Amino acid sequence: MSAATGRERTSVSRASAVIDLAAIEHNCSRLAAELTGGAELCAVVKADGYGHGAVESARAALAGGARSLAVAAAGEAAELRAALPDARLLVLGALTAAELDLALEADAEVAVWRADFLELVRARGDALARRPRVHVKYDTGMGRLGARDPGAVTALVRDLAGGERAELIGLWTHFATADEPGSRFFDEQLDRFLELALPLREQVPGLRLHAANSAATLREPSSHLDMVRCGIAVYGLDPFGEDPAQRHLRPALELRSYVADVKPFEPGASAGYGQKWRATEATHVGVLPIGYGDGVRRALTNNAEILVGGRRRPVVGTISMDNLTVDLGPEPDVEPGAPAVLIGAQGEDRILAEEVARRLATINYEVTCGISARVTREYPP
Ligand SMILES: Cc1ncc(COP(=O)(O)O)c(C=O)c1O
Repeated sequence: MSAATGRERTSVSRASAVIDLAAIEHNCSRLAAELTGGAELCAVVKADGYGHGAVESARAALAGGARSLAVAAAGEAAELRAALPDARLLVLGALTAAELDLALEADAEVAVWRADFLELVRARGDALARRPRVHVKYDTGMGRLGARDPGAVTALVRDLAGGERAELIGLWTHFATADEPGSRFFDEQLDRFLELALPLREQVPGLRLHAANSAATLREPSSHLDMVRCGIAVYGLDPFGEDPAQRHLRPALELRSYVADVKPFEPGASAGYGQKWRATEATHVGVLPIGYGDGVRRALTNNAEILVGGRRRPVVGTISMDNLTVDLGPEPDVEPGAPAVLIGAQGEDRILAEEVARRLATINYEVTCGISARVTREYPP
């Protein structure tokens, strides 16, 4: 019996995310090789490495040439620090006082944009007898975290420069429309940042400027500056929602399950909650033990394809928490035990996270971040 149809299963779990760490390493070296002016690659491994596993992804990214790692939350920094004692870590997000302590204990660099928070950073650093390292965030148009007023940003940088109680490492911003090709707002944000940041770097030697996410890194070399913060491209996913191969990125994640049962359906028989699908002719339905509890969104009901037996099979009926059903046709060529691929390749065909995202009217980020903790992460050697 062939691997595509047989009872033998390559994964150990009902639902597994199989991560190709060599792909992450490849993507990082591909990104690092393209950086201009000596810019360094910082790999963004927040949200458990976009669902790929933070520590494993971080190790692969560092092996591929990333010089530092970024996360959103203090707990994420603590998790990385436990596994990677020497890695350079940056927490991008807002921190409560307790989270700040956790981040500083993890020896992570933190973002500041308010004078009162900087005071807190200094006080907590004093208590820890460790000089916190900080990056001042300038909100050039994202309208989220960061100081919007250029005067306030300059004041923070000047206050920090040469200071004893906290070390100024960087000045940074984040783009709102880097993934929209031709966006003028992207250019405006970059101009706004450079106008303020370049003269400040002259005044504060060693100040590291960073702005680019994956999309900016790929589209605009002048945004590379001293460091780029790439997330999605590290995992081989395309920030523009296209085929990652076009940009020489290799998707690292496959989402796999298997056919737990195959049953004949008479015309008119329905599958799943609410009878959202009925067989129009005699067919066979395959039941896969994976559902929205695993991150396969219910909105894919009657609206997805899954690779089974080396080809695409339509999802039929409602996706439930733990199971979903596919139409295997009147003369099924697969048996219970056959491997199923929800994201990834099988036979000659391939389903990209970008395709799933399009069906859900969302972005590939949400597809992989949404794969739940119940799904076993596997890292084949
Ligand atoms: C502040 C910041 N920088 C960089 C990134 C990485 O972005 P991307 O995954 O698009 O490369 C993110 C991700 O959302 C972010 O929030």
